[in-house]
Amino acid sequence: MAEEGFRLDPWGHIEIKDYDRLYKVFGIRPFSEVLPLLKRAGMEPSHLIARGIIFGHRDFDKVLEAKIRGEPVAVLTGFMPSGKFHFGHKMVVDQLVYLQRHGFKVHVVIADAEAYIVRRIPREEAVRIAVEEYIANMIALGLDPKDTVFYFQTNRGTAYYRLIQLFAGKVTAAEMEAIYGDVSPAKMMAALTQAADILHVQLDEYGGYRWVVVPVGADQDPHLRLTRDIADRMKGVVELERPASTYHKLQPGLDGKKMSSSRPDSTIFLTDPPGEARRKLFKALTGGRATAEEQRKLGGVPEVCTVYHMDLYHLMPSEEEVGRVYRDCKSGRLLCGECKLLAWSKLERFLEDHRRKLEKAKDIAWRVVEAPRF
Ligand code: TRP
Ligand code: SF4
Repeated sequence: MAEEGFRLDPWGHIEIKDYDRLYKVFGIRPFSEVLPLLKRAGMEPSHLIARGIIFGHRDFDKVLEAKIRGEPVAVLTGFMPSGKFHFGHKMVVDQLVYLQRHGFKVHVVIADAEAYIVRRIPREEAVRIAVEEYIANMIALGLDPKDTVFYFQTNRGTAYYRLIQLFAGKVTAAEMEAIYGDVSPAKMMAALTQAADILHVQLDEYGGYRWVVVPVGADQDPHLRLTRDIADRMKGVVELERPASTYHKLQPGLDGKKMSSSRPDSTIFLTDPPGEARRKLFKALTGGRATAEEQRKLGGVPEVCTVYHMDLYHLMPSEEEVGRVYRDCKSGRLLCGECKLLAWSKLERFLEDHRRKLEKAKDIAWRVVEAPRF
């Protein structure tokens, strides 16, 4: 039940500051409760899990239990092919790579229908961006293309579209309005298509994966709630399990606002030339004090520092190393200039290595997905 004045907007434009409320208001469970099951399933927590960046879930325990029983498990997520691939996207792909290495079958949907109907992205542009930006970068980040299903929403098979058509009879305008605050045909179509994305991999035609987890930012939860309800209401037509989901905290943009490709200085693109990446990192918002003197005395505030978040999400997988930055920042031993240089040395190496991998991945990318004809 949505509390007055607290509505999540999946297309949107709000920042979520108060994660605790998500537990209380929407019934998302703390991720920490599945840690013992994760271990039993043979999975060491990734750095995103260990650091609480992945903070919540629904029914992920059921997926892990199925995995422990030896049943096939899958993960599905989607990207709208708009703009360039940046570090916010990388975080999700890191989760896919982690799950793939632990035996989850990975499905990636290119939300090109959504990009067209909600954002008006021209079709040819969407296809090129999807393949050369999104899919190529995902492969370069370590996703094994041989073991990943990539597909375009406008180019799937009959049973998938059958779901979208039948789902339309299972939701009311009032529900759509309560969740999205808008009932335009465009949003309805996008929402039902996304529900089909999440649920169709359970059909025999698409592998029959009953246990599917969807890793999303908390702002995408309304889609998940709708999809879970639709799964329940399809009883008697086709048996569908409710999807599981995990929720991650969105990395703050380098300007302290929401990370977005429409504000290029709020993030670093994985294809940014070194000079450009360096410039963005060095002017990023920190938690530093007004003067060096003050910082030595009071210490910095890594909790609000966007450079620290780059370390935490991407640049420093070692607990010891990131812990040292945190402590030295707090104690005033580390100043922002030096700290940025340290982050930059990591970022520079990563980008250089990534650029090499990306060149190879671009050729592969066109071969692993069938592009729609118009
Ligand atoms: N709506 C998502 C976005 O805005 C894209 C998306 C489409 C998706 N289908 C999905 C995400 C299925 C997760 C699962 O980027
Ligand atoms: Fe951020 Fe580093 Fe400055 Fe601390 S010292 S506020 S972590 S840049």
